[in-house]
Amino acid sequence: MHSGEARREDGAPPERTRNVILQVDCLEGMRRLPDASVDIIVTSPPYNIGKIYHTHNDQLPRDHYLAWMGDIAQEAGRILSHEGSFFLNLGGKPSDPWVPFDVIQQFRPHFTLQNVIHWVKSIAIEKADAGNYDAIRSDVAVGHYQPVNSNRFLSQCHEHIFHFTGSGAVPLDKLSIGVQYQDKSNIGRWKHATRDLRERGNVWFIPYSTVRSRRAHPTTFPEKLPEMCIKLHGYNRHTVVLDPFMGIGTTAIACLRLGVGYIGFEIDSYYCSVAEERIQDFKAETLTDS
Ligand SMILES: C[S@@+](CC[C@H](N)C(=O)[O-])C[C@H]1O[C@@H](n2cnc3c(N)ncnc32)[C@H](O)[C@@H]1O
Repeated sequence: MHSGEARREDGAPPERTRNVILQVDCLEGMRRLPDASVDIIVTSPPYNIGKIYHTHNDQLPRDHYLAWMGDIAQEAGRILSHEGSFFLNLGGKPSDPWVPFDVIQQFRPHFTLQNVIHWVKSIAIEKADAGNYDAIRSDVAVGHYQPVNSNRFLSQCHEHIFHFTGSGAVPLDKLSIGVQYQDKSNIGRWKHATRDLRERGNVWFIPYSTVRSRRAHPTTFPEKLPEMCIKLHGYNRHTVVLDPFMGIGTTAIACLRLGVGYIGFEIDSYYCSVAEERIQDFKAETLTDS
């Protein structure tokens, strides 16, 4: 990878590494990147809750794990552009719900926490609570979660996505992930409501799909998650997205779908090979469709 230069006059970044997934320790990979050279970071690190990965040990001593997350935060702060966004997906486990809150303290010296997003995997809505919406005809329970076998703990139906920026003042393209008004009479009533689209807010329902490739890895996120983060930040064809914990390439697929560049690091050779396979499959499908 090459060293940092200024952007060109047409706004494009100088030629730089794009669309690669390297099998490397992410700290080492990030240290090879120039200052302020990525526009968006979207990632989900290991949560240190004893998941069985191919190579990574997900049961590090807590202080060791948190110090590692602190090193990641510091390096991310250096390579993220000044107007960039870092979306950090974190969860815990029912018996250890402190994980996300402990980890973000490690990010505090390096970033401003601009938004906290709740990624909802499963939700139950009772008709009586929903009010007078034609679309909801009965009680509904949608999505999937891993049920916990305990009379003390609740099953985890959501995780966090922490949105960090340098200044806390990075403008977002909120309507790019907007939702239609239920009550169409709101269109035109509010000065800002000129079309049938309102802000989604910070609760995102994104269910898991049942795609086959998920079985190759214990902790993937759905493709829609990085896609929504990238859209929310705003992007163009020069945008470069980094996922330092690329797993089986979900962020890379989202980037290909949106036509933005990606850089991924992943320590495990098997996950890297599954990611490459998924990328090739995606490209083949896109060619067939066009
Ligand atoms: C939560 S998973 C990410 C899954 C990914 N979002 C996906 O959808 O496929 C975390 C990943 O980090 C990888 N990992 C662990 N330690 C690493 C390190 N030091 N450098 C790079 N990757 C690492 C693990 O092998 C695992 O695939």
